Amino acid sequence: MTDDCDGPLVLDDRDRLFDATVDTGMDLTVDIGRLTLANPVMPASGCFGPELGGLMPVGSLGAVVTKTLFADQRSGNPAHRLTESAHGMLNSVGIPSPGTAGFKRDVLPAYRAFGVPVVASVGGLTVDEYWRVVDELADADADALEVNVSCPNLEHGGLAIGTDAAAVERVVTGIAARTSIPLLVKLTPNVTSIGDVARAAEYAGATAVTVCNTFPGMAIDIRSRRPVLGNGIGGLSGPAVKPLALRLVWQAASAVDIPVVGCGGIGTARDVVEFLLAGATAVQVGTATFTHPYAMAEIVRDLPVLCADLGAARPNELIGGLHS
Ligand SMILES: Cc1cc2nc3c(=O)[nH]c(=O)nc-3n(C[C@H](O)[C@H](O)[C@H](O)COP(=O)(O)O)c2cc1C
Repeated sequence: MTDDCDGPLVLDDRDRLFDATVDTGMDLTVDIGRLTLANPVMPASGCFGPELGGLMPVGSLGAVVTKTLFADQRSGNPAHRLTESAHGMLNSVGIPSPGTAGFKRDVLPAYRAFGVPVVASVGGLTVDEYWRVVDELADADADALEVNVSCPNLEHGGLAIGTDAAAVERVVTGIAARTSIPLLVKLTPNVTSIGDVARAAEYAGATAVTVCNTFPGMAIDIRSRRPVLGNGIGGLSGPAVKPLALRLVWQAASAVDIPVVGCGGIGTARDVVEFLLAGATAVQVGTATFTHPYAMAEIVRDLPVLCADLGAARPNELIGGLHS
């Protein structure tokens, strides 16, 4: 680590340790529709920003995913927005957004500079806003879109579009008609049948489904007798949700023929292999980065070693390999 206090924070030794150019000789590529990723590892939306570029070799990732973008500027929820819980974290960030104009001018170029595919996460408080964001991104050079259907929807009684298969079908059909780039649809776990919602997304034209977003939760301050989070409730993420997400990935992968991107509590290459066996083609890492900024780079480093140890010539061979 550099001891130059005046210079930028650059962790030289770590960077060398995780040098993305080290060739393990293993083909780690995976396909999300016509988008080929150099490896199956990408950050989860909202858990990674370009500022992490000084701390880890972002170019070693399969792709980067932006925070969810709304059409208009938004400031997000009141503090507190984050709180720790046992083996996880609760957040109610509320999706602050620079709006599409600010995103194209200030945010997207910073993501592009990493030289890996950029997945732009899009959201909306109304169905029309989802479509408007996609229209306004038409001249941006994102490689894929991830439709976050967990946003509270004003026309859906404040419930997420993703809780209703018919509403997901409507939103995604409209988006698929507006763009030809690969379309990931990020599902909420807050449903009775993830298979039904995944099938609706597939039918509407999704290239892949991402499973899943955070789980609704809450924390209480017993002295003030008030919720800890400014918004009252928030989303639980981190190791605590891994078994829940794994089950949802397995059920979604059993329901659709398109790729599933696994997300929820992933922090190690071993976690990734579990998600691949459950049927995921690629994975996203969120909360792990908050406690361990190198987590994604370590996964990329460790995955080929673990695959070889398990007798797999490449991660692709493990997809859906669960014996059940
Ligand atoms: C602080 C924070 C902000 C998040 N913001 C977004 C977001 O903008 N869009 C989105 O689709 N998911 C968002 N998520 C959910 C994550 O992308 C991910 O689905 C979830 O945290 C589960 O993965 P993990 O356990 O690896 O964190 C956010 C999660 C956290 C912790």
